[in-house]
Amino acid sequence: MQTVSPDLLVHSARQLLSLASPEGPRRGRAMGELGLIQDGAVAIQGDRVVRVGNSREVLAAAGTGSKLIDASGKVVMPGFVDPHTHVVFAGDRASEFEMRLQGASYMEILAAGGGIMNTVRATREASLGEIVSQSRKRLDRMLAQGTTTVEAKTGYGLNTDTEMKMLEAIRLLDESHAVDLVPTFLGAHAIPVEYKGRADEYVSLVVDEMMPALEAEGYLDHQPPLFCDAFCEDGAFSVGQSRRILQKAKDLGMGLKIHADEFNSLGGTALAMELGAISADHLACTPEKEIELLADSDTVGVLLPGTPFGLAEAHYAPARRIIDLGAAVALATDLNPGTCYCESMPFIMALACRYMGMTPAETIVASTINAAHAIALGYEVGSLEIGKKADLLVLDIPDHRHLSYRFGTNLVQTVIKAGRVVS
Ligand code: NIG
Ligand code: FE
Repeated sequence: MQTVSPDLLVHSARQLLSLASPEGPRRGRAMGELGLIQDGAVAIQGDRVVRVGNSREVLAAAGTGSKLIDASGKVVMPGFVDPHTHVVFAGDRASEFEMRLQGASYMEILAAGGGIMNTVRATREASLGEIVSQSRKRLDRMLAQGTTTVEAKTGYGLNTDTEMKMLEAIRLLDESHAVDLVPTFLGAHAIPVEYKGRADEYVSLVVDEMMPALEAEGYLDHQPPLFCDAFCEDGAFSVGQSRRILQKAKDLGMGLKIHADEFNSLGGTALAMELGAISADHLACTPEKEIELLADSDTVGVLLPGTPFGLAEAHYAPARRIIDLGAAVALATDLNPGTCYCESMPFIMALACRYMGMTPAETIVASTINAAHAIALGYEVGSLEIGKKADLLVLDIPDHRHLSYRFGTNLVQTVIKAGRVVS
């Protein structure tokens, strides 16, 4: 019987991090397990991983047509999954950065009609083509730094037409860019100025007009399911308003996410548990009782240390405590023009070690397999296992700890996305 030889073999890696996992996200001690293989290799056929193991064993399957990549002295691992981003937007907010350096707070700027609203104005005015071309450049830089899958939120439209334009931009980018994009509807990102003082009426617009439009435009026939998120915070949406939106999303079969406890604790994390959200994100101010609920649930805690760093604030999510209590933790950039214009997962990992007490190995689990589970793609990406998508990185480092130990330079040498060398 003749077997097809692999198209591509990446071999002789000093450390191959397979992240091979049992079902579900890793938690507790398993959060530090990388599935490390010394002198490791991966064989790829088409867009899939067909073999992972010791180089001698894997190379034995090579045929004359197999392309070889020698990773001697280097680390090979799955591409990063960034499970919380606002990568799609128009314009920038460099002037607000300067205002904040002079003492204005993020939520004060939002309350005065700036902040998220500034980007909403720019995104409403921009054409679909402009939004796509500005966002594409960010995806190019994310890919060059090793990110092969990103979640991308709407939320800079805040009216039905522009929210749909953002979803269309995400779809076009997913189809035309090597990075895979997973969409999230975030109609509840802020109360737009035209609804000032009428937050409940805006929530009605989201529930009664925007969400039916998602269905009518076919965005609900999506795998993974379209996610719905809400910014549950003083100055944005209350727990009651967030519940109304997320419950409707659940009724429509959408997956649920929430921005909870970024600045204040309102009970958003408990709401995530109540509704069975796939992730609860930020968790900088989550009380111990709600962390315990999270630890007992299937919800992934998505931590975003780039946000306090970007805002020059000292308060980070208590990741060490969250992991020790037994919750599954993922990391993400939160890339957005306001709090955190950061396209690099390794920089987020460097912050997570220094300010949240995570180990280098935990930050790798949190940026790959657990991040994949936070967007319902754990079966497809986030580890190097037979049958999974061949998304992998060759890093020019001798040991995986260099990823978070060093910062400010790009250590990614080669990016392979769906079996093709793309960067
Ligand atoms: O996760 N806080 C809400 N959303 C983003 C910021 C978005 C923006 O400022 O444009 C966040 O920090
Ligand atoms: Fe966010």
